Amino acid sequence: MSRAALIAIAIAPLGALMLTAAAAPADIVRPDMPGRQVFERQCAPCHGTGPGADGAPMLPGTAALAAKYDGAKPGALELRSDLPAPVLRLFVRRGVSEMPPFRKSEITDAQIDEVAAYLAATAAAN
Ligand code: HEC
Repeated sequence: MSRAALIAIAIAPLGALMLTAAAAPADIVRPDMPGRQVFERQCAPCHGTGPGADGAPMLPGTAALAAKYDGAKPGALELRSDLPAPVLRLFVRRGVSEMPPFRKSEITDAQIDEVAAYLAATAAAN
């Protein structure tokens, strides 16, 4: 066997490992804060990192944002550092495209602030 073939065989598993790492959103470091619970209950069904219960690789919010920004920003909100509380409130209260607006009886302003702090902390930790 040629030397090049041997090297190719030797490094092939590395390629597989790198692919696994890139496709392993479950590895996101998630700080344990109040906003995490709110996010998991109210937002993660659409904005989590997937895969979805139907086997889709991305959840609808994550997929829509990945398509919208086309690599310029991450699809997952937990990796976004540009969503301070006032911005988050606007989107959550008004809704956007496929995303429904949330009433104050569904999520309070204080809870949106908690989610904003959680997203900032998660983005910083990853
Ligand atoms: C039913 C699914 C669904 C739920 C639940 C949901 N979203 Fe969304 N959200 C979406 C979709 C889809 C989009 C992308 C809309 C578009 O195409 O612009 C989106 C967009 C957003 C955006 C806009 C980001 C940008 O850069 O354009 C923010 C911020 C956001 N969601 C925050 C939240 C938060 C916070 C929650 C929880 C309180 C939440 N969403 C719950 C589906 C959802």
